[in-house]
Amino acid sequence: MTDWVFGYGSLIYKVDFPYLEREPAQIDGWARRFWQGSHDHRGTPGSPGRVVTLVPAEGRRCRGMAYRVEHEVFEHLDHREKNGYERHRVVMELLESGQSVPGTLYVAGRDNPAYLGPAEADDMAEHIFAARGPSGENLDYLLRLADALRDIGDEDEHVFDLERRVKALLG
Ligand code: SIN
Repeated sequence: MTDWVFGYGSLIYKVDFPYLEREPAQIDGWARRFWQGSHDHRGTPGSPGRVVTLVPAEGRRCRGMAYRVEHEVFEHLDHREKNGYERHRVVMELLESGQSVPGTLYVAGRDNPAYLGPAEADDMAEHIFAARGPSGENLDYLLRLADALRDIGDEDEHVFDLERRVKALLG
C-alpha cells in the first residue's frame, strides 16, 4: 500500500526516506508560516527554533513537494515530525502530471505545546538567526527552504521576506 505525502518545509529539501515517485505539487486554502517552535531539530526545549507550519488561508495556494511512499515510511515521518505536527488529509495537485491525488501532510496546529504563533518579521528573523538545535542552525533551515521554493517556482513572500531579513543580519 502506498500514499502521497505533501512536504512544504524541510520535507521538500531534506529527503531522508525512500519514495517511489516525487513531483512538485500544490494545495489550496493553506499558507506556510514560520509560526511553529522547534524543540528537537532547529532549537532546544529551553531555546526553541522557528519552523514552518500551515495555516488555513482561503484563496491561497501553497506549493511543495509530493512523494508517493510505502505506508511504513509514515513511522519514520511521524517520529521526525513529532514535535507538534499531526497528520492531516488533503487533496494535492501534482504539477507535472496534472493529476489531483489524496494524501497526507503534517500540520502543527495552534493548540500544540510548541506553537509560537505570529510575531514581528524582524523579531522572527532575529530569532531564526540565533537558534540552533540537533539538526543544525535555524537559519540554514530558512535559507535551504527559500532555495528549494525557488527551485519549484514558488513565490512565498513570507519566506522570502524572512530570508532577506536574515541575510541582512548575516551582513
Ligand atoms: C514539512 O516539511 O512538510 C513539515 C514541516 C517541516 O518538517 O519542516
